Amino acid sequence: MSKVIGVIGAGTMGSGIAQVAAQCGHSVYLMDANVDQLNRAKTGVSKSLEKLVEKGKFTSVQKTEIESNIHYVAQLEGLSSCDLIIEAIVEKMEVKHSVFSALEKIVSADCILASNTSSLSIASIGSSLSKADRVIGIHFFNPATIMPLVEIIPAVQTNAQTLESSVELIKSWGKTVVVCKDTPGFIVNRVARPFYGEALRIYEEGIADFATIDWAMTEFGGFKMGPFTLMDYIGNDVNYAVTESVFQAFYYDPRFKPSFTQKRHSEAGFYGRKTGRGFYTYAEGTVFPEPNKDQIIGKMIFERVLVMLINEAIDAVFMQVASVKDVDLAMTKGVNYPKGLLAWADEIGLDWVLTKLNVLFHEYGEDRYRPNALLKRMVENGDKFYS
Ligand SMILES: NC(=O)c1ccc[n+]([C@@H]2O[C@H](COP(=O)([O-])OP(=O)(O)OC[C@H]3O[C@@H](n4cnc5c(N)ncnc54)[C@H](O)[C@@H]3O)[C@@H](O)[C@H]2O)c1
Repeated sequence: MSKVIGVIGAGTMGSGIAQVAAQCGHSVYLMDANVDQLNRAKTGVSKSLEKLVEKGKFTSVQKTEIESNIHYVAQLEGLSSCDLIIEAIVEKMEVKHSVFSALEKIVSADCILASNTSSLSIASIGSSLSKADRVIGIHFFNPATIMPLVEIIPAVQTNAQTLESSVELIKSWGKTVVVCKDTPGFIVNRVARPFYGEALRIYEEGIADFATIDWAMTEFGGFKMGPFTLMDYIGNDVNYAVTESVFQAFYYDPRFKPSFTQKRHSEAGFYGRKTGRGFYTYAEGTVFPEPNKDQIIGKMIFERVLVMLINEAIDAVFMQVASVKDVDLAMTKGVNYPKGLLAWADEIGLDWVLTKLNVLFHEYGEDRYRPNALLKRMVENGDKFYS
């Protein structure tokens, strides 16, 4: 029999996750403390399904069936029959703790309790449970209905059965699953940091303006969006907060140091598209600035950001955060990178990556640019990530 799924928090992520589960035929209980939010979620799910009907993905009859799979509840007690519950509420540890410990008194002993947190430790969330071997991180990407990647994060307390059932279930929803260690930023939010941080650094050094850096990354790297366009899209408030939290969580490792430029933009309310101004302005009729299409500068910018991204991807493998395959899948399926960073490193040559990093490290003398030990070892042995 199909598992009964619970989702707590009917906001951006929770309503998307509930829709995905309902589309896969599960009976879903979507809970929110705010009744207005439940009504908004219901309307949102209906609109989203309507678009899928227009695209021919579902019939109107199927839309009605999917909608009837979702039960909107305003009390945790409404989740008592669930086999797996995904929490997607506010990103505050004390609130998550109180919800998880209240939940444990309501659900069955083998109900899996998952969190969709982006930045909090799953071990810490689990510490509020008396039976903590059923806690796990199940991290969807926004929008959950569209983005294929889901990071699954077992905590130190999680048992093998919880991990296995979670992976099997989320795969059955058609998602691409990667398993990663309970470390700050998991895979994507850790490995992607230099895409923003190094671009900001290049700007701050006066090497190029926003438009030129964006052009360099799309032209030479084939990225769908340049870093400044992407930061404006995500929101500088949100993107800056993630960088700051990863920086703190890594005990202030200079690799993750946030940028004053982004901090000031965030402080000024220049969040990006949502406020009409970020690194660019979005008022109607505004002409976007032209990049300086100097091939030498463009290539230099792209190569500097790329080797920093590859160094970070290698560190995730070195520190056993995830496998080579999963690190590459995470970046291609979670943030649409044109290639997996480790496959990319093989293609351009690990020795070339190491040389570029050594040049930066010697020029700046900053720990931020130190080449990863695994990279050095692999170059010495003539190894590749994929044979
Ligand atoms: N937004 C993203 O891009 C994104 C991506 C991946 C993961 N996440 C994570 O998902 C979680 C939710 O993020 P979001 O963007 O959907 O937030 P949101 O603000 O859109 O929604 C949160 C919802 O939780 C409800 N809520 C808050 N406290 C509650 C409680 N105690 N009980 C029941 N409901 C409660 C709120 O009413 C709100 O509807 C966070 O942990 C966030 O880190 C967010």
